[in-house]
Amino acid sequence: MSNNDFTYGLATGIAICAGLFSLGAAFVYINNQRAKNAKAVAHASQPLALSSIAVSDDRASTSSFVPNETHKISPDDPNPATLVRLQHLFEVNGDKLSQIAKHMVAEMKKGLATDDSTLKMIPTHVVRRPKGDETGSYLALDLGGTNFRVCEVTLDGRGGTRVRQSKHTVTDDLKNGTGAALFDFFAECVKQFLLSDDQKEVTDKDLHTNEFKLGFTFSFAVNQVSINSGFLMGWNKGFSASDCVGKDAVVLLQDAFRRKRMNVSVTALVNDTTGTLVSHAYSAPDTYVGVILGTGTNAAYVEKIENITKYKKDPAGAKDMIINTEWGAFDDEMVVIPRTKYDHKVDRGTANAKSWTFEKLISGMYLGEICRYVLVDLVKTGEIYIAGGTKSKTLSVPHAFETAFMSRIERDHSLDLSDVRTVLEDLMHIPGTTLADRRLTKAICEMIGKRAARLSAAGIAAIVTKMNKLDGCTVGIDGSLFELYPHFSNRMRDAMHEILGFSAENIVLEQARDGSGQGAALIAALAGKLTA
Ligand code: BGC
Repeated sequence: MSNNDFTYGLATGIAICAGLFSLGAAFVYINNQRAKNAKAVAHASQPLALSSIAVSDDRASTSSFVPNETHKISPDDPNPATLVRLQHLFEVNGDKLSQIAKHMVAEMKKGLATDDSTLKMIPTHVVRRPKGDETGSYLALDLGGTNFRVCEVTLDGRGGTRVRQSKHTVTDDLKNGTGAALFDFFAECVKQFLLSDDQKEVTDKDLHTNEFKLGFTFSFAVNQVSINSGFLMGWNKGFSASDCVGKDAVVLLQDAFRRKRMNVSVTALVNDTTGTLVSHAYSAPDTYVGVILGTGTNAAYVEKIENITKYKKDPAGAKDMIINTEWGAFDDEMVVIPRTKYDHKVDRGTANAKSWTFEKLISGMYLGEICRYVLVDLVKTGEIYIAGGTKSKTLSVPHAFETAFMSRIERDHSLDLSDVRTVLEDLMHIPGTTLADRRLTKAICEMIGKRAARLSAAGIAAIVTKMNKLDGCTVGIDGSLFELYPHFSNRMRDAMHEILGFSAENIVLEQARDGSGQGAALIAALAGKLTA
């Protein structure tokens, strides 16, 4: 059992206790109207155990808490009719997950043969994973979603790395300004990073005369034509900088270095999923899949080159290549995943509406916003925050309800949900919330967070099935959702079991830390050996 498992186990235990306690409390009081509603709802939705909402932890969800006249409802509990209606909307059961995984395998195959698939299946030109004996120091620049980092990665030759890094926030003005301003900002950050190295004492003149090699992790879909060249297909995750779409991201960056008279060569352009796969394989050689579950979401995996029939280049004797699936765009045609009216609202509010729709159900950029739309709707129907819902201006501000709030809400196991109150009353400015309001808010977060975890598990199940690796492999996963969102990884594991049965035991989902920075450095370092 890893430390993580232990932490989750502990959290699970606490959650079960908290859940049982709240169930106990729920039996005390009779509210005639609610009991009637509950009876009607229970009848309409037999197999849907309300318990998976009422109990704080999913693993306790097998007990049946379907309200009837003997299960009395307390005024502190949310209206069961509301809960069941929402659960119907957001639930993706095991059969549906299997259908989703099956459809993804079909789309993967299509994307390997043609460009006519929702899955772009981009050949990365990275044809080998590292062995762990590589050495040296390399620069990496990592543009993910919210953050941007400059790193210097030192490989120790025994699968270990040392990283010096600086972290920066990309402001909305930069994300939505001109491409030149955005890339100048990156170049300036690299300059300051190099100049601030106390040990090497790099001077302004050195920046011009010495050559620095750099791996660029650019976490957007690019049409990758070689290891250090890729044309941006389109922005997402809130970026819309001008004059970039259709351009080579490496040229844009290289031009910015030139404007600053810096002698930096971008030797590798890497997606964060590829970086995660490569860097995790550096210490865990059985890694065949890299996944990001953060502001955005995506996966890369190792494919046999003979299966990539659209790849026309000479693979230089290599047998395998890493494929960047860009699964964020999976099911953009809307054929298999059920969407709610809230998902459509979120989509319509984005700069890239009707695309990257899988990502919009899963990733940190959007979960809070889905939740906000549900809450706004329930305020309108009078089902939540009766005292203060209409008074909150914040609730109507797009993206004001952050995914980090959901995480915080799901982590609150106190009896009166005091931290949920802090989020709602102090951060969202909704005065006078009741315990029933807070429980309903928490249940909604659980439904949306759980759906995201289960859909990402369906994606991983599809990839390991396509690779024929059901007998065992490691999946390196980076990103704030997997690392920090309560129960996310356990919910994924449960869903993997529902889809793959016992084979799920052979698939190790492992936290990959800083894969994108280290991976870019590794690929830059080994460009000659690792690429075709
Ligand atoms: C991008 C991917 C990236 C993922 C995770 C998505 O929005 O399209 O290229 O890997 O986010 O950062």
